[in-house]
Amino acid sequence: QTEFAQIRDNTLYIDDVNAMDLVKKYGTPLYVMSEGHIRHQMNELKTKFLDKYENVLPLFASKSFSCLEIYRLANEYGIGIDCVSAGEISIALKAGFDPHKIYFHGNNKLPSEIEYAISHDVDHFVIDNFYEIELVEEIASRLDKTIYATVRVVPEIKAGGHGFIQTGHKDTKFGFSARHGIYLEAISKILESTHIEFEGIHCHIGSQVFDLYAYISAMKRFVGFAYEIYDQLGVMVTKINAGGGYGIAYTKKDEPLDFEVITTEIMKTIKEGYDKRGWDMPMVLVEPGRYVVGNAGITLYTIGAIKEIPDVRTYVSIDGGMTDNIRTCLYDADYEGVIVNKAEQPKDTKVTVAGKICESGDIVVKEVMVAKPEPGDIFAQFSTGAYHYSMASNYNQLPKPAVVFTYQGKSKLVIRRQTFDDLTYYDTNEDYE
Ligand code: LLP
Repeated sequence: QTEFAQIRDNTLYIDDVNAMDLVKKYGTPLYVMSEGHIRHQMNELKTKFLDKYENVLPLFASKSFSCLEIYRLANEYGIGIDCVSAGEISIALKAGFDPHKIYFHGNNKLPSEIEYAISHDVDHFVIDNFYEIELVEEIASRLDKTIYATVRVVPEIKAGGHGFIQTGHKDTKFGFSARHGIYLEAISKILESTHIEFEGIHCHIGSQVFDLYAYISAMKRFVGFAYEIYDQLGVMVTKINAGGGYGIAYTKKDEPLDFEVITTEIMKTIKEGYDKRGWDMPMVLVEPGRYVVGNAGITLYTIGAIKEIPDVRTYVSIDGGMTDNIRTCLYDADYEGVIVNKAEQPKDTKVTVAGKICESGDIVVKEVMVAKPEPGDIFAQFSTGAYHYSMASNYNQLPKPAVVFTYQGKSKLVIRRQTFDDLTYYDTNEDYE
């Protein structure tokens, strides 16, 4: 854990707030997000990328954690955002986010979403497929707007923590293949269109990546694409989006790359390639999500039933589960955690932390050493800030937990806990007509 989470006085402090006080005040399960850590990470994007180079923009991949407050914070640090749906865009706009700093991604942007985005002045699209080119051209000309396009091209690089979160390999639903010049055909279509302006190319190799060389080789390939685009179509690539995917430490085994090292290598590789042709540097974007919010999150749960299977394992069940944390069963993800109220007691019991959902796969932490657990103890699961709240569901009709931010010894409720009334909020009780 990073400095914002500290174990002392036999308890856990998050931004100097005692986790047990948060439990008393807000109940469990509870997503706690350290604003201190989010600010620290956003400041890294600002000082080590945005302020360090000319003509760059870091984007926060907001699918990792999307709510009004996070867009306000991103705005404060001058960083842009990556949105993947009209829903995310609508939240960002409600938060007062500048639509011109929103990049709209996605492999199947709906006509209604494109219409929503363009009519709300979102003008940067990461174009993913031929159908989208047609839709954007049609809708943008009808609304008389110009859309600036980066074209997503598949680098054919295998990287990423789990098969489900690899996106840069040949067989992916995302982006245009570079094979048989398909991406060149896409760019030609854009060049022929009247309301889409071609700016550059976009790359995302995958998520939870620890391999620096994967980023370097992807960028080498992208420089090659820029050459090819110029040679074949006579246009310059003036913008390269290098994507996100920077791995974070979930457990001690993970060794994350340094943000500054990744971005330095990305910039260097592009510069070397552009220098060879005597070209000016293009605008460069990066778009990490998990890196910004992943380690900032801690989920607090109350321990209930404990089941010991002799010589097999001890299941400790908590009051949440795959509804608030789908990552363990979906990606076989590893986590660490601690029993908050016994934080300094010897960790002599190996347990599997299970949820309360009616599924055997509903495991929250596969294996962790904790102090002897008892019902009523509070379990804290670390590094739950990315793709936890944003992937939460109401399966088994569990209300979604509240989200609380902590900062400099204080806490505030950012998203209230769902109530039973929320569970029937969308039910209409209509009769057949
Ligand atoms: N850019 C693009 C085009 C992406 O598709 C993604 C993530 C990102 C940036 C941000 O990636 P990050 O820096 O957060 O790794 N639910 C999975 C991760 C899915 C990632 C989807 N795309 C998980 O919990 O591991």
